Amino acid sequence: MKILGIETSCDETGVAIYDSEQGLLAHTLYSQIALHAEYGGVVPELASRDHIQKLLPLVQACLDQAKIKANEIEGIAYTYAPGLVGALMVGAAFAAALAFAWDIPTIPVHHMEGHLLAPFLENEKPEFPFVALLVSGGHSQLIEVKGIGDYRLLGETIDDAAGEAFDKTAKLLGLPYPGGKDLAKLAESGIPRFKLPLPMAKKDSLDFSFSGLKTAARLLIEKEGLEKKEDIAASFEAVMIESLTQKSLRALEVTGHKILVISGGVSANKRLRTRLQQEAKQHCFNVFYPRLEFCTDNGAMIALVGALKFTRNQSHDLTIQVRPRALMGSSS
Ligand code: KG4
Ligand code: ZN
Repeated sequence: MKILGIETSCDETGVAIYDSEQGLLAHTLYSQIALHAEYGGVVPELASRDHIQKLLPLVQACLDQAKIKANEIEGIAYTYAPGLVGALMVGAAFAAALAFAWDIPTIPVHHMEGHLLAPFLENEKPEFPFVALLVSGGHSQLIEVKGIGDYRLLGETIDDAAGEAFDKTAKLLGLPYPGGKDLAKLAESGIPRFKLPLPMAKKDSLDFSFSGLKTAARLLIEKEGLEKKEDIAASFEAVMIESLTQKSLRALEVTGHKILVISGGVSANKRLRTRLQQEAKQHCFNVFYPRLEFCTDNGAMIALVGALKFTRNQSHDLTIQVRPRALMGSSS
């Protein structure tokens, strides 16, 4: 069964085709980063307009790449939440219109469930149950995953998301938006010689907090200036990784699970991956993550979840329902 996936929750237009027997057949992505760069962040109205222009050509490109005809697609999965409401509306309305024309059902998918299950796009797939560390621009969560749709929130950020803290600190370091990747690159040539506070280090809780670290980094930048910015970047990144690692290890300990999955934009961070791999060796657990291009937003993860959730008696209800904020597992 072949499912078309559509992702438009923020500033990436992602389209993909996933086959439940053969795996991923095609995926295309258009990033709007250049469009929003001069504003220092995503401009919602521009994002919506751009998604409208890119969707159809991307779908055509995907069909060509997969070498299949439109009538072989059996369902259309689209991101219904969370995200920018206008951007979500574009994807949902597009999916509904195409589904109506092709007389096939739509499957609404939660964006974070896409990130959560993205490692299943790889050949080596994790086995249930596992702990997932979901770290993106809008979310930082630890989740116990016992099966598809069986999720328990273990902890989450009480203020900024990990990616958000990366991006805000990167901006203060003079890097373009979104700065996470550039900050990590800058950190490669730096030494983590500044001491920044480790968030919620003594707390048993599995929640994160990054606003204190972000403020400490800002004060450090004000004090030291940008001359040694690679050392500031390295110091910030080191504390961030330490915090994410400690909480992940605690979550594995509390649940007793032996598999850790990391996903979402921040899981593209090389040092975070290396550190968790070292810990995995030392503490005898396995770590799984998607390939780099599927860590950040993409259509493949949406098509995948669509295929996993598709049922033979899927309804043809074309109601368009999008949710700027919604917990995973809630449909209303
Ligand atoms: O998952 P994603 O593409 O979008 C959301 O759903 O938010 O995540 C984007 C976030 C941004 O904050 C970006 O700076 C961060 O992921 N990011 C990174 C790296 N690559 C992307 N953060 C740290 N290191 C990276 N290599
Ligand atoms: Zn995302």
